[in-house]
Amino acid sequence: MSGYKVAVMGATGLVGRMMLKILEERNIPIKELILLATERSAGSYVEFEGERLMVETTRPDSFQGCDFALFSAGTSASKTMAPEAVKRGCIVIDNSNAWRMEEDVPLVVPEVNPEELSNHRGIIANPNCSTIQMVVALKPIKDSFGLKRVIVSTYQAVSGTGWKAVEELKLQSRQILQGKEIEPVVYPYQIAFNLLPHIDVFYNGFSKEELKMVNETKKIMKDPGLKITATTVRVPVISGHSESVYLETEKEVELSAIRQVLSTASGIVLYDDLDKLRYPMPVMVEESDLVWVGRIRKDLDEEKAFHLWVVANNLRKGAATNAVQIAEEIIQRGLL
Ligand SMILES: NC(=O)c1ccc[n+]([C@@H]2O[C@H](COP(=O)([O-])OP(=O)(O)OC[C@H]3O[C@@H](n4cnc5c(N)ncnc54)[C@H](OP(=O)(O)O)[C@@H]3O)[C@@H](O)[C@H]2O)c1
Repeated sequence: MSGYKVAVMGATGLVGRMMLKILEERNIPIKELILLATERSAGSYVEFEGERLMVETTRPDSFQGCDFALFSAGTSASKTMAPEAVKRGCIVIDNSNAWRMEEDVPLVVPEVNPEELSNHRGIIANPNCSTIQMVVALKPIKDSFGLKRVIVSTYQAVSGTGWKAVEELKLQSRQILQGKEIEPVVYPYQIAFNLLPHIDVFYNGFSKEELKMVNETKKIMKDPGLKITATTVRVPVISGHSESVYLETEKEVELSAIRQVLSTASGIVLYDDLDKLRYPMPVMVEESDLVWVGRIRKDLDEEKAFHLWVVANNLRKGAATNAVQIAEEIIQRGLL
C-alpha cells in the first residue's frame, strides 16, 4: 500500500482531533495512522475516515517506521518525544513551544517562509496560533513596502487553552445565567462574561504569550530589528482568534496599495466593506483555513501607518492546518 505512516501525538485533544479532521479534508496519502496520548485515554477510540482507531500510550517506539509525527501534546511531551521520533527516522511537526526558538529548528508558516524547510534536521516547529495569523497578513505588506513597527492586541478564544477551557466557559456561562456560584479552575478568574489580559505566565510586565508573538515574528520574518510589541487577551469566545494590528511601513504607500497586496496574497481573504457591514468575526472562521483581514484603514496621525483587523480559526490555521500544510510542503519539495 502506498502512502505515509503518520503518528498524531495528542490525538484526543482539541488540536489533535482537528489534525485528524484536516488530514481527512486534505490529500496526504496515509497508509497507516498511529494515534497517541497518555495512559488516561489509551484504549479509547477516535474515528478517522469512518474507521474507529484505538488510542495508544505514547512510547519512544511508537514512532518506529513513521514518516511524520504531528505533535500537539504540550511542551514537556514534545521535549521528551521529539528526539526519540527523530532518532527513528521520523519528521516531527511540533505545535508546542518546546522547539520554536531553537536555532536549528525551522519555525514555518508555509505562506511566509516555506524555504526554511530545506534546513530541517528532523524537527519543524509550528508557531503560536496568534503569531501564525498575524505573519500571514504582515508578510505581503513587508515584501512590498517594508515593515518598521507592529503593535498588536489580541482577542483570543478559550479553545487556545485546550478542551478543559472550552468546558469551563460553557459551564460558567450556564451557571451565571442560572444565578449560581462559579468556581474558576482553568483560568485564575471568571472567563464567562469577562476577559483576562493575561495569557501564560508574566515576565517583566509582559506575558509569555506576548513575548512569543514578538520573538517568533522576528524569527519567521528574518528581521531581528523589527519593532514589535503585543498585548494578548483571553476573551469568552470558543473558537477563532481576533487581532487589532497597527503597522508602520518603511515606504510611503496609499491605502489602496495595501488593499491590493492583501487581496492577492496567498492564504488571505480580504473581507472589508463597511457600507455593507463586512468585517471578519470569529463566528465566520469556524470552517475556514484562511486568514481573514478587514477594517483596513490609514492611521489618523502617522503618515506611513495602517490598522488591520485579522481573524482566523486558532485550531485550524493557528495549529492543525498549518502543521498539515508543512507536511504537504515537505512532500512537494522532496525533503522527506
Ligand atoms: N488549542 C490551540 O489553539 C493551540 C494552538 C496552537 C498550539 N497549541 C498547542 O498544542 C498542544 C495541545 O493543545 P490542545 O489545545 O489540543 O490541548 P488539549 O485539548 O488539552 O489536549 C492535550 C492532548 O495532549 C495529550 N497529552 C498530554 N500530555 C501528554 C504526554 N505526556 N504524552 C502524550 N500525550 C499527551 C492529551 O492526552 P490525554 O487525552 O491522554 O490526556 C491530549 O490528547 C499544546 O502544546 C498547545 O500549546 C494549541
